[in-house]
Amino acid sequence: MYVCLCKGITDGQIREAVDQGCDSLRDLRRELGVASQCGKCARQARGVIREARTES
Ligand code: FES
Repeated sequence: MYVCLCKGITDGQIREAVDQGCDSLRDLRRELGVASQCGKCARQARGVIREARTES
């Protein structure tokens, strides 16, 4: 499922980034560009980070 349409980033890519140490929206923005354009995905991206953390 796409989370960030501007950058074409899926929840799977975000989970992978969290596995590799991304721990915040700021990290994700730096690594993947999530929420670096319109910013509409920020809330959902945070939710995916939170989920991925509790799963691992
Ligand atoms: Fe992520 Fe626009 S949808 S920056």
